Amino acid sequence: MHGLELPNPVLVASGTFGWGTEYQPLVDIQRLGAICSKGITVRPRDGNPTPRIAETPAGMLNAIGLQNVGLRAVVQEKAPIWARWHVPVIANISGESVAEYEQLAGTLDGVPGIAGLEVNISCPNVTDGGRLFADTPKSAATVTRACRAVSSLPLMVKLSPNVGNIVEIAQAVEEAGADCLSVANTLLGMVIDVKARKPYLANRTGGLSGPAVRPVIVRMVYQIASIVTIPVVGVGGVTCLEDALQYLLAGASAVQVGTANFVNPRTATEIIDGLEDYLTQQGIRDIAEIVGAARPPAARPAVSTTA
Ligand SMILES: Cc1cc2nc3c(=O)[nH]c(=O)nc-3n(C[C@H](O)[C@H](O)[C@H](O)COP(=O)(O)O)c2cc1C
Repeated sequence: MHGLELPNPVLVASGTFGWGTEYQPLVDIQRLGAICSKGITVRPRDGNPTPRIAETPAGMLNAIGLQNVGLRAVVQEKAPIWARWHVPVIANISGESVAEYEQLAGTLDGVPGIAGLEVNISCPNVTDGGRLFADTPKSAATVTRACRAVSSLPLMVKLSPNVGNIVEIAQAVEEAGADCLSVANTLLGMVIDVKARKPYLANRTGGLSGPAVRPVIVRMVYQIASIVTIPVVGVGGVTCLEDALQYLLAGASAVQVGTANFVNPRTATEIIDGLEDYLTQQGIRDIAEIVGAARPPAARPAVSTTA
């Protein structure tokens, strides 16, 4: 990612790896490419009422509703811990208005321990005033520009798959000053409780994640990476080396592992090991050789080895 050299291209996705500290006893977190923090909002949030998680075929539906400790606690309590770590921590931010995004990005700028920002313009689970800024090229660009204006940190903007033309939105976000794109957040879904004859989640709808969404998001990464010139990070259903390779071959410079962390917290570090072996076995010296290799040659832009 522009201005941020990642040690490797395997990150962990926001909301699935807490603040990083929770996983410290289980995983060698310092080996990760980066940790995308839990979504941060200006004020602390309790999240949505339960039930807010449902298991689905090859995935899960969640409507956590951005439960988090809020901006001030992140700056005072979390960032000082991250500052002592080797692994870069990318702060994932969510606002209910452009002004809130500005406040989040501006406050986190220059805070030791925060290596970059992931701007979540796409959380589908916030009903109380939360807006989907990812819905139109104009609103997506407005949020990106506002964050860019107040932050010198590398800016990764996380797109929503719940749109008509995601390529158009990716282009608008690139033009507005994003350094990188994460593709994508969860797909809007619903599970019905047939006994109660109503939606199972208290929020009614939730975000679908896990292997079920992977083919949809791989397609989006393939489409977007041939149009934009900034790096794309593939997020959606990465569970193993082969899944990560699909994203790289589609044109992603890196991947994020999300739901798979709940099944096996070491998924990301296992993929890092697997990727090293794969590159050695295939005689590939620079990972850039495979980034976008599944696309027609003319469609492949120059890519760097870092995300
Ligand atoms: C329980 C849960 C909480 C999440 N919270 C956030 C969040 O706070 N901010 C965000 O940008 N994405 C959030 N996500 C979306 C993930 O970061 C990721 O984009 C999505 O789950 C797709 O990847 P996966 O299929 O590997 O899980 C959350 C996902 C889950 C499952």
